[in-house]
Amino acid sequence: MDARLRIRESRYSRRRTSRPSTRRRWSSAAFSSTRRWTGSWPPPLPCGLATKCGSGHTVATGSPTSPLRNSATGRRVCMQVTVSGRAREQELRRAASIAELPSFELKSRAAVDWDATVLQVSRTGLCLKTPGRDYRWHPGLLHTRVEAGWTHPLVRAMALTQGDRVLDCTLGLGTDASFVALLTRVPVTGIELQPALALMAQEGLRDAGHAVRVVNADSRLLLGGLPDGSFDVVWGDPMFPVGAAVTHSLDLVRHIGSHAPLGQGWLDQARRVAKKRVVVRDTWNGTLLETMSPDKILNTMRQRPRYGIWLG
Ligand SMILES: C[S@@+](CC[C@H](N)C(=O)[O-])C[C@H]1O[C@@H](n2cnc3c(N)ncnc32)[C@H](O)[C@@H]1O
Repeated sequence: MDARLRIRESRYSRRRTSRPSTRRRWSSAAFSSTRRWTGSWPPPLPCGLATKCGSGHTVATGSPTSPLRNSATGRRVCMQVTVSGRAREQELRRAASIAELPSFELKSRAAVDWDATVLQVSRTGLCLKTPGRDYRWHPGLLHTRVEAGWTHPLVRAMALTQGDRVLDCTLGLGTDASFVALLTRVPVTGIELQPALALMAQEGLRDAGHAVRVVNADSRLLLGGLPDGSFDVVWGDPMFPVGAAVTHSLDLVRHIGSHAPLGQGWLDQARRVAKKRVVVRDTWNGTLLETMSPDKILNTMRQRPRYGIWLG
C-alpha cells in the first residue's frame, strides 16, 4: 500500500477512536463473526429489477444484450476469454458459458492476443490479464470502513440505518456495497456496467460471503424501469478523473471500468427511485458536485472524498 495513504489512514483511525460515537461501532471481531451472508445465494433481485428473457431465464432489466461499444469510436468492444494452462473440464465449461455473454469471445490459449486484455478462468477463479499486470478481485479498503463502522463518512452521508435498502449504481469491486450490506443487514443491489468487472465482483463477493446482488447493466438505463421510492438510498460513485490520486486498490477499476459520466438523466431517475436520499461521491478537489447542484455537500477531511446529497 502507498506509504502516504497508510499514514493518512492511521491518522483517520486515530481521529475516529479519539471521538467515540454514541452509535454502535463495528469492531473487526464483530465484522468477522457476522460478515458472511447466510441467506440464499444469490440474494434475490428486488422487484422491478428482474425480467424474464426469451429462454425463460430471469435476467436483470437493462443488462447488455449486445456487445459494448466504444463511446468515442462506436466500435464493438469484445474481451477475449480463455482458460489457464492447468484448467480442468469445469474451467473450460465456465469460460464457454462466459463467452455466451455478448461482450466476450472464447479463445484457445494459442489463439489469444496477449497484448490485449484477457479474462482468464483458472482453478482459483477469474483473473484479468494485461500485458503489464494481472488483476484479481479483492475487498479493497473494506477493513478501514469496517474499522470506522457507523461513523464512516459514507454512512453519515447516506444517513444509514439498519434495514435500509441501498442501490449501488456504480458497483466497481463492491467495496462500498459490501460495507453497506454489513451495516444494514439487508442485501445491497449493485449495478456494474463493465461485464468483466461485474463477473469478477460477483465471484469475489460471493466467495467472501457478502450480501451483494450483482447486476451487469447500465444504471442510467436500469433506473428508468424501477418504481418510485423502491430503494431508501441510491448511491453513485462515478469514475474519478484520469490522473486523480486514488488508492492502488482501484487499479483494476481504473483499468477497465467505464469512465462515462452518469449525467442529469441518471440523477433525475435516481431521485425518483430513492425514498430517502441520493448520494454521489466526488474527489476532494473534483468539480463534479458543483455541476450537479446537490441539496448539501458533506466535506469530511482535507484530501478525503466529498459527498453530494439530494434529499428525497
Ligand atoms: C469509482 S468506481 C466505483 C468503486 C466502488 N464504489 C467500490 O467500492 O469498489 C466506478 C465504477 O462504476 C462503473 N460505472 C460507471 N458508469 C456506470 C453506469 N452507468 N452503470 C453502472 N456502472 C457504471 C465503472 O465501470 C466503475 O467500475
